[in-house]
Amino acid sequence: MQITVYGATGTFGAQLVPQLRERGHTVIAAHRGSGVDTVTGQGVAEAAEGSDVLVDCVNQVTMNAQKAIDFFSRSSRSIAEAAAEQPGTSVAVLSIAFRPEAAESRMMGCYQGKAMQERIFRRLVPDGQLLMFRSAQWFELVDTMTVKAGPLRFVPKMRVQALAVTEADSSHRHRGCPT
Ligand SMILES: NC(=O)c1ccc[n+]([C@@H]2O[C@H](COP(=O)([O-])OP(=O)(O)OC[C@H]3O[C@@H](n4cnc5c(N)ncnc54)[C@H](OP(=O)(O)O)[C@@H]3O)[C@@H](O)[C@H]2O)c1
Repeated sequence: MQITVYGATGTFGAQLVPQLRERGHTVIAAHRGSGVDTVTGQGVAEAAEGSDVLVDCVNQVTMNAQKAIDFFSRSSRSIAEAAAEQPGTSVAVLSIAFRPEAAESRMMGCYQGKAMQERIFRRLVPDGQLLMFRSAQWFELVDTMTVKAGPLRFVPKMRVQALAVTEADSSHRHRGCPT
């Protein structure tokens, strides 16, 4: 099977790509460094050519709702449109576990972006071709959100039931929830 992974160099993508290759799949590793920009749409359709599955694990780290909505709406649309150009191509989307009220929270604007991402894929990709996964937060997120100032580390206060990113590909069988 040929699989295009958008966000191939990220925390999740960098784990996924070698695992897929080990299982014998041909992987197109897509990210801005490879000339693919899911926000502008540059190279997105080309990277999808001939793939049976497109995986969306791109990300922009922000708590700003408008930035998150802008990033995920443009990015999701360009990947969904690339899938639509090739009838029969499936799309696997990595989303994140959140309660509905989190998508309204001004403090956690990123969840508004994720909610938008889910809505766009549900609207543009036929039911039978869409695999939407919500993984629980990863331990790696603490590092991403830690503010470093010299020898000091300001660690965010969060209540999450986290898992390691290496567990996330099977998280739907554990604590993540497929939707
Ligand atoms: N962190 C968590 O705890 C957690 C838990 C569950 C689900 N998730 C979800 O998992 C997904 C992946 O998260 P992650 O933490 O692995 O992301 P990440 O480490 O921030 O990596 C983001 C990836 O997206 C690529 N990217 C960013 N902007 C791009 C653009 N405009 N065009 C093309 N590629 C772009 C980056 O590559 P370049 O910079 O090279 O382009 C990189 O490969 C996200 O949707 C996130 O919401 C995260």
